Amino acid sequence: MKSIASIMLAALLQPPSPPAIVDTPTVKMLTGLTVPEFEAEMQRMTQALGASCGTCHVRGSFASDANPRKAVALRMLEMTKAINRQFFPDYKAEEGASRLGRVTCFTCHQGELHPKAPPPL
Ligand code: HEC
Ligand code: HEC
Repeated sequence: MKSIASIMLAALLQPPSPPAIVDTPTVKMLTGLTVPEFEAEMQRMTQALGASCGTCHVRGSFASDANPRKAVALRMLEMTKAINRQFFPDYKAEEGASRLGRVTCFTCHQGELHPKAPPPL
């Protein structure tokens, strides 16, 4: 029988395996992220809109496009990425910040599904 110490040593000598990247044809905009990074973006989107996962997803399938808000959110991701690419190309996200860039869903939504309209003059 192997000792605990030898098992632990073997584990330490293993090269760390690279984290799995989300790679599925149903994910079109949030590409190149690890699974925890992807999950964190979903949490941030939810928080930025004062929403829940069910605001954009149908029950039982996150990959389904049956909830029309998911398509709107996808366009919003496209827009947000385009703004960042064009106007904030040098921005580097800090540890724990959104990978989208300087402008995020929160920049406009501020915790609400409908961003505030300006007050009347
Ligand atoms: C504002 C809308 C919105 C909210 C809120 C939201 N999602 Fe998503 N979710 C999306 C969109 C859009 C995609 C597709 C992203 C893409 O194609 O890059 C997606 C994709 C996913 C996927 C990948 C599905 C696949 O194709 O395999 C998972 C898993 C997921 N969301 C989980 C969650 C969870 C869990 C929550 C709540 C914490 C959540 N989402 C909240 C819009 C939303
Ligand atoms: C540049 C500002 C801006 C950014 C950035 C932005 N949005 Fe929006 N979003 C809007 C505006 C404006 C509307 C239209 C709201 C309305 O009709 O009152 C909207 C509408 C939406 C809606 C539809 C709400 C409804 O009527 O059901 C969703 C969902 C949404 N945004 C998700 C997102 C997500 C997810 C992100 C980040 C990936 C994002 N938005 C980033 C400005 C923005």
